[in-house]
Amino acid sequence: MKVTLETLREKKAAKQPAVGVSCYTAPDASLSAEAGVDFIVVGDSLAMTLLGFDSTLPATMEMMELFVAAARRGLTGDHVPLVVGDMPLGSYQPSDEIAVVNACRLVQAGADIVKIEGCTPLILSRIKAISEAGIGVVAHLGLQPQQKALVGGWRVQAKTATEAVALEGDCNNVEHAGAVVMLIEAVPAEVAALIVARTDVPIYGIGAGPGVDGQLLVMSDLVGEFRAFKSRFAKRFGNVSEVKAKALADYATAVRAGSFPDAETSYNMDPIEAGKLK
Ligand code: KIV
Repeated sequence: MKVTLETLREKKAAKQPAVGVSCYTAPDASLSAEAGVDFIVVGDSLAMTLLGFDSTLPATMEMMELFVAAARRGLTGDHVPLVVGDMPLGSYQPSDEIAVVNACRLVQAGADIVKIEGCTPLILSRIKAISEAGIGVVAHLGLQPQQKALVGGWRVQAKTATEAVALEGDCNNVEHAGAVVMLIEAVPAEVAALIVARTDVPIYGIGAGPGVDGQLLVMSDLVGEFRAFKSRFAKRFGNVSEVKAKALADYATAVRAGSFPDAETSYNMDPIEAGKLK
């Protein structure tokens, strides 16, 4: 089954939480689909989790296209999650036209819809322009990692009543601009739940508590592979780092002990050819 925006709206109406994962490679997209995940975000978090940068800011359109296409190639089974392509810093800020061109590039690479951060008048104009070009937009509110320098790092947002009311206003504004889904990051659970109750489009949370229409986690956080730091909300459901570290240590030990490669993992010549060679 192909998950569509309609599927996500139906889930919201039926109060069934949607499950989302940020991932970027064909194997991870394939595993996510097999697990029945509803949507995949090919996020600019890949700059940190895959490419080793210390923020999402260095992500480029070329990187995003490469990984959107890779994730899409992993979706070969019957269940096909909705693919959200994340628009990196600089790909939508300059003008409505540039934002539309770059949204089209992500769709041509394999995204179903695109995600952009923020809610300033400039961003509302971009949401409107991309939507009017026929491409669905996910509005990313709350903590916006592309604004790291402005907001002073990765901090919980909307902690005061005034900020909570402002966030609700932002949600209304992006909805009116045409956003088809909202993603709110790192806000108190009470605030997120209140906004969800007053909004028609699906609202997903990452670090926004249980009262939203669905959850998103970054694959390398949830499988326990990203080790640079751990956000409070990034629950580790596995420990892939330990599995990889043990496999690597066992491999090194086997090579040094001469037990790898062995007969089973080596190729041999036909005996006649081997004789000739001697
Ligand atoms: O880049 C990303 O993976 C994201 C999610 C964490 C929201 O933007």
